[in-house]
Amino acid sequence: MSLAVENRFFLVFVVVLLGFVGIAAMGCQAAHESSPEDTIEPVVSPVSVERGEYLVQITGCHDCHTPFVMGPSGPEPDMSRMLSGHPQDLVMPQPPELPEGPWVWLGAGTNTAFAGPWGLSYAINLTPHQNTGIGIWTEEMFVDSIRKGRHMGHARPVLPPMPWPAYQNMTDEDLESIFAYLKSIPEIDNRVPEAIPAETEG
Ligand code: HEC
Repeated sequence: MSLAVENRFFLVFVVVLLGFVGIAAMGCQAAHESSPEDTIEPVVSPVSVERGEYLVQITGCHDCHTPFVMGPSGPEPDMSRMLSGHPQDLVMPQPPELPEGPWVWLGAGTNTAFAGPWGLSYAINLTPHQNTGIGIWTEEMFVDSIRKGRHMGHARPVLPPMPWPAYQNMTDEDLESIFAYLKSIPEIDNRVPEAIPAETEG
């Protein structure tokens, strides 16, 4: 092969390479131009109990569904009552009337009972106990309850502060993994009181 031919091949290679770099750069630019409101493509992972456990840890389910106790460095979840919801023996009195002002809601020290403009809500027992937990729930009920924000998937609206508007964006695989994990954890017999939605006018 003569030097001239070799050079020509090299030139073609460089041109093709530059083409790829150009396309890649355009891709990056497009990514930068998209606004944060654009839909984020979720990463789909296979359904597994381990993934469910990981998601429960990072999405803060313990913050409200595991009762908090005071520890040496402040309130911490009591993992001996993991995900069992508002403790049945902690009967909450009528919430005090708040004065007019920027404070609009109240929470129990356990972070499992909440009173606000929506009424009174208690974090439910997410353990697989048959009578007091989600033992009788089907996967469909669980997924629908978080997707639609309806009690057990079809009844009254799920009240704040349950962050279902954020969680509804999880993939099917995420929600099914969480459900599989919740079904695998130790069951705890704890009957959480019924929520009392605020009277709505009209
Ligand atoms: C900021 C507090 C908070 C966090 C965080 C939270 N929850 Fe809840 N959750 C609640 C409250 C309060 C209720 C009760 C709402 C009601 O009775 O309407 C509830 C209710 C539920 C229900 C029952 C809905 C129904 O059909 O009645 C499910 C299921 C649930 N939570 C699952 C989860 C899971 C799974 C996570 C984590 C991914 C989570 N929650 C994180 C506060 C929270």
